[in-house]
Amino acid sequence: MNYRSILLLGISLFLFGLISCEDDDDENESNISTYNSSESHKAGQDCMNCHTSGGPGEGWFSIAGTVYDSTLNDVYPNATVKIYTEPNGAGTLKSTVAVDRNGNFYTTESIDFGTGIYVLVEGDLETKYMITPITTGRCNSCHGVTTSKIWTK
Ligand code: HEC
Ligand code: HEC
Repeated sequence: MNYRSILLLGISLFLFGLISCEDDDDENESNISTYNSSESHKAGQDCMNCHTSGGPGEGWFSIAGTVYDSTLNDVYPNATVKIYTEPNGAGTLKSTVAVDRNGNFYTTESIDFGTGIYVLVEGDLETKYMITPITTGRCNSCHGVTTSKIWTK
């Protein structure tokens, strides 16, 4: 090897080192709830206080929150959150997010909120529809704060 190729090799190793040492906090990663999983935590809190670009949480959530039962004290596991383009479950189904065993639902998939999308929450016996369109998926920034917790039966 001549001097030139050693120099090039050195530069390549240096650049490779830079790439592999890149801080994980600067990248989104997939993190999506499933029925019966229990990896989540902090039920009732606004997940996107941390699970956002630059935040410490793993994955930047587009939609996340917590579902409770009718007592509003206990979480409701394994419900289903659905996102539609029209109110009352009409229009196009944009996304389905499973509620996990801790009552939490979350997804890092990219959601186009446009001028507003409509959500519903399906329990075993009852489906609850939010009438107003939302332009943010930070469900727990309103629910449990400025309006009732999300709940179903
Ligand atoms: C105060 C900051 C904070 C809040 C609020 C928060 N998280 Fe987290 N979350 C973290 C951090 C930090 C981690 C990574 C380390 C750990 O597991 O504790 C994490 C990890 C997770 C993981 C595990 C990912 C894995 O691959 O193991 C899930 C799932 C999760 N959070 C869901 C949620 C949900 C759902 C909410 C809201 C109900 C929420 N988090 C609220 C900071 C937070
Ligand atoms: C900007 C605040 C805000 C955000 C964000 C928000 N909601 Fe709501 N939600 C409300 C308000 C206010 C109501 C009551 C009026 C209505 O239905 O539009 C409501 C109603 C609901 C209802 C019906 C409640 C009932 O008892 O009939 C459900 C279900 C619901 N929201 C789920 C969600 C979910 C899931 C998310 C996140 C994807 C979410 N909401 C995000 C404010 C919010």
